[in-house]
Amino acid sequence: MIKVINVVGARPNFMKIAPIQREMSKYSNIKPVLVHTGQHYDKRMSKFFFNDLQLPEPDIYLGVGSGTHAEQTAKIMTHFEKILNEEKPDLVLVVGDVNSTAACSLVAAKMNTKIAHVEAGLRSFDRTMPEEINRLVTDVLSDLLFVTEKSGLENLKREGIADHKVHFVGHVMIDSLIYFKPKADQSAILGELNLTPGEYGVITLHRPSNVDNKQNFEKLLNAFAQIEQRLPLIFPIHPRSQKMIDQFGLREKVEKMSNLRLLDPLGYLDFMKLLHNAKLVLTDSGGIQEETTFLGIPCITMRENTERPITVEIGTNVLVGTDTQRIVLEAEKILDGNAKKGQIPELWDGHAAERIVKIISESL
Ligand code: UD1
Repeated sequence: MIKVINVVGARPNFMKIAPIQREMSKYSNIKPVLVHTGQHYDKRMSKFFFNDLQLPEPDIYLGVGSGTHAEQTAKIMTHFEKILNEEKPDLVLVVGDVNSTAACSLVAAKMNTKIAHVEAGLRSFDRTMPEEINRLVTDVLSDLLFVTEKSGLENLKREGIADHKVHFVGHVMIDSLIYFKPKADQSAILGELNLTPGEYGVITLHRPSNVDNKQNFEKLLNAFAQIEQRLPLIFPIHPRSQKMIDQFGLREKVEKMSNLRLLDPLGYLDFMKLLHNAKLVLTDSGGIQEETTFLGIPCITMRENTERPITVEIGTNVLVGTDTQRIVLEAEKILDGNAKKGQIPELWDGHAAERIVKIISESL
């Protein structure tokens, strides 16, 4: 029997672990144990995703909550060390690039427990981005590295990671997108918000470089203020950004935009329905660059770089940074009918979790 601890902590982890948990439960020789660190704890950032994604209740909940990077990482480590001592798993599987990913990898490595990293090898080459540090740390410690796009293979090779550890398997987040598409189609969110398919834009914004910096945040809001004159904008807002709007005194500026609607964070199915029917998406998220590429929806990414270059090379994604005019010009291009057409990346076919779990069952 192979005992695997599957780690989740923050919102973008849940849709990645769901297909892996589901696939593992089909194997009689694998026992998955789901550990939730509690990095995200609000119902809208966590519980609702468990429901939508049909994830079982976590077997173990660490309840670490928010804090500075060091505080949060240290708390996860201390709690997770105890769990490893009790559970003695054969493998710790981590996904993505959040603090929970790096913290649990570090603990497992020190306790000589094998580590699998799903979504390995992505690099923005920007070490001011906390996730880049998490990606580097996790990959160097991992025994099995599962890669979503070819750039990941090149990055890991250049960093000297042995070839036999690395597997190009596609993308578990796209597994979830495909698996839950019929359910997402049934979401009533468009009716509830009085939206017509193809006649609105979606905004998501939460990177510290964008929302923890008043000047950058304002530049982005200035762009939204111009775009909303031509297209209604729906903005389900991350708690970090919500907090910063008040801290920077930007609430009035946001409320002045009559065609921009702030919403609480949405659940997975509602958000997928909203994305799928959008005219365009403005984001600084990593995962949404990929989801829009898969769905063929034009994506304007308000960042200077991306660790997911395939979405720009062959997908619908365009990087625009935080310059107001660049953002507006790109949105106008789409509204004038000149959106970039994209293709779906290799192996983003709904079967990544099957490949991953097969490799795990054969290599442990
Ligand atoms: C984290 C990840 C980021 C990911 C994002 C998705 C790291 C370093 N960052 O960023 O990669 O893209 O999640 O959402 O791991 N808060 C709440 N309720 C919650 C969680 C957070 O109100 O359930 C607020 C708190 O004020 C907290 C702040 O949001 O201080 C930031 O949360 P944190 O988990 O530190 O980082 P995120 O910005 O969510």
